[in-house]
Amino acid sequence: MLETPPMKMAWTAAFLILLQFMFISVEGIGVNWGTQAAQNLPPSTIVQILKDNGISRIKLFDSDAWTVSHFAKTGIEVMLGVPNNQLASLAKHYDKAKDYVKENVTEAYKAGVDIRYIAVGNEPFLKSYNGSNHATTFPAMQNVQKALNEEGYGGKIKVTTPQNADVYNSGSQGPSAGQFRSDIRDVMLQIVGFLKENDAPFLVNVYPFLSLYQNPDFPVEFAFFDGGAQPVMDKGTAYTNMLDANLDTLVWSLRKAGAPKLKIILGEIGWPTDGNKDANVDMAKKFYDGFFKKMATKKGTPLYPGEMEYYLFSLTDENQKSIAPGDFERHWGVLRYDGQPKFPMDFSGNGRQKWPVGAKDVQYLDKRWCVFNTDIKNMTSVPANVQYACQMADCTALNHDGSCDKTLDDKKISYAFNMYYQMNNQDVRACDFEGLARVVDQNASTNECLFPIGIESAGWKLGRPVGANAMVGLFVLLLLLFSH
Ligand SMILES: *[C@@H]1O[C@H](CO)[C@@H](O)[C@H](O)[C@H]1NC(C)=O
Ligand SMILES: *[C@@H]1O[C@H](CO)[C@@H](O)[C@H](O)[C@H]1NC(C)=O
Ligand SMILES: *[C@@H]1O[C@H](CO)[C@@H](O)[C@H](O)[C@H]1NC(C)=O
Ligand SMILES: *[C@@H]1O[C@H](CO)[C@@H](O)[C@H](O)[C@H]1NC(C)=O
Repeated sequence: MLETPPMKMAWTAAFLILLQFMFISVEGIGVNWGTQAAQNLPPSTIVQILKDNGISRIKLFDSDAWTVSHFAKTGIEVMLGVPNNQLASLAKHYDKAKDYVKENVTEAYKAGVDIRYIAVGNEPFLKSYNGSNHATTFPAMQNVQKALNEEGYGGKIKVTTPQNADVYNSGSQGPSAGQFRSDIRDVMLQIVGFLKENDAPFLVNVYPFLSLYQNPDFPVEFAFFDGGAQPVMDKGTAYTNMLDANLDTLVWSLRKAGAPKLKIILGEIGWPTDGNKDANVDMAKKFYDGFFKKMATKKGTPLYPGEMEYYLFSLTDENQKSIAPGDFERHWGVLRYDGQPKFPMDFSGNGRQKWPVGAKDVQYLDKRWCVFNTDIKNMTSVPANVQYACQMADCTALNHDGSCDKTLDDKKISYAFNMYYQMNNQDVRACDFEGLARVVDQNASTNECLFPIGIESAGWKLGRPVGANAMVGLFVLLLLLFSH
């Protein structure tokens, strides 16, 4: 068929639209993926989730070689992490940094994993760490970068360190009074100088939710992006949301540190959905709707105009995170523990009621629940058993303002027992509680309180698929049999 000019135009238009869509998915959203959970989805499932949702970047909290290998040739950019507990050794022994770069970085890179950044440490200067990483973070960063340079990857892969926004402050004044915290100012200046020299970005984690949580007088609307907040003026600039004000406090701090042009990446940003009165689906949705709309404008902040790279915190819930900061800690997931969406979320910022695509082919454990045996009339030993279950498993949904807070008492006992049972992979011994509990095959959930079923992830903790372990076991068994 001969193409008439209108036809051609239609094709051109279609092509342009296609290009635009391609562009949208390429410029991309990032997510953090933490694995402090009793069971984790396999990395192959995570790759699928990212592809299905057009998420093009992932930030990890370690650099486990087996996990990282799954991102090879996927088009997904990976930020590797080095946990805080390795900083001391990397700082002290250059050999350790060399080994790390060889085993966990360059091998993956050669296999096709698109690694741009290595996040050395995670919020290492948090006040609650009492200064334990102050002396080691910077030397560890230097050693890793030196090892990268030596291997010839220095230009391609950059070392940085994600900081909590508490590394800078402006007293009770506006962003323009921003400075790095006085107890770590020296080391922050060294780090900023290092980032500038290496053309590496400054990573910062900003949490409007925590501002609200920690300060009852915090103006609620300032945590969101709907324009409902009373603007706060600073040197002629009006701030209508906490994120802009916080990031510009960093910009001022960087200016004063002699690095006004440093690239800033939002290392973590998000809103939890359970475990506190302000941690719920409605408020999380309001936050994300506003955030994605804001990011889609690519306007940045008053002092940092333009697009900003960001990583949502987090991809999935983590039921073994420390709840020292609060019960909400285990509920930061955009998706639930099993990779299923919690509420509609339009990553493109177009504000459509669109559900994220959930994990496919999730391997759930059997449809079994552990519940309190209501035939039992003597309740004496119940509290101690519930306490035990909750210490070992996750009962954050039961506490004040949690989603199962309003459930009947019998159901709460069951909830605690069930969480313990599921988090122990439905081991029958994990559903006894001195004879108070029994296993049932009827769904124990109520309308408002979900009793989750665990997911398969045996072998995960060893960093390799269960198949490999099983095969080794079989092999050893055969050897034993035939050696007689
Ligand atoms: C490097 O990979 C190995 C497994 O291959 C893992 O045991 C180790 O923890 C990884 N190092 C880091 C810093 O994640
Ligand atoms: C920091 O110090 C406090 C009080 O002395 C202590 O309770 C806490 O465990 C310390 N934290 C770390 C990470 O050492
Ligand atoms: C209830 O059980 C406790 C121990 O679990 C026991 O000491 C107590 O005597 C029992 N009470 C009754 C009324 O049976
Ligand atoms: C159990 O019931 C809840 C609430 O009705 C539902 O959301 C959940 O999917 C059910 N679980 C299973 C395994 O069927």
